[in-house]
Amino acid sequence: MDELSRNHYLKMMGLTVWQRRDRPGVAENSLPVDSASEPLSQEAGWAPDPQDSTARETPVATGEQPHAQDWQTLKQQVAQCRACDLRAGCTQTVFGVGNPQADLLVIGEAPGADEDRQGEPFVGRAGQLLNAMLLAMGFKREAVFIANIVKCRPPNNRDPKPEEALRCEPYLLRQIELIQPKLILALGRVSAQNLLKSDIAVGRLRGRVHPFGEQRIPLVVTYHPAYLLRSPEQKGKAWADLQLALSLLRSPSP
Ligand code: URA
Repeated sequence: MDELSRNHYLKMMGLTVWQRRDRPGVAENSLPVDSASEPLSQEAGWAPDPQDSTARETPVATGEQPHAQDWQTLKQQVAQCRACDLRAGCTQTVFGVGNPQADLLVIGEAPGADEDRQGEPFVGRAGQLLNAMLLAMGFKREAVFIANIVKCRPPNNRDPKPEEALRCEPYLLRQIELIQPKLILALGRVSAQNLLKSDIAVGRLRGRVHPFGEQRIPLVVTYHPAYLLRSPEQKGKAWADLQLALSLLRSPSP
């Protein structure tokens, strides 16, 4: 992505773009953390190529448990799930959206009213900001996969209860197994604390890399877009987290 486009998306994120005096046209805060000169772009090889059809191996469904399901069967199983009370109070399940072979997996908290209506995560105002954040990183929304900790909307947008998150967890874990992302981006407290099994505040979990699961998939925590809408002064820190995520996505797989 060229600097002009990046600056445009940073502005859409609501970030002030500082111009470098020594390099007119280059935003101070658009530079990648590990390089002051290299453009972060698909051409530079860090972003997923939407044309890449190299299919990852998909296990064949052999049973009823999420860990044995292929993508389509898992989707059906989620749609039929009654493992907790959330399903009775929501319109539909929200499985997730995007590229099932994405390098970047974004995990939020739970569907809200708009998501419940449309059956897709992050379609409301927070979703628009998330889209801008992804574009600032160089990703179209369709190039990544977006999911939530729970797949049903909690009543009145309350936080999912720990037992609801646990009931839903096998589906998310199976999605992670099938996607095999290069990086997980956890949005906000509920996502970060459930994924990391921690009660540490987001402000202390962000800004570093956490290994997730047996595969030790790099996981980066950042602020939830809904929080950023309420606290725009934190957007600079969120952008630093996204740059950390980008630097990991660009690094060669171990
Ligand atoms: N907030 C979330 O955490 N997830 C959504 O899907 C929408 C809003």
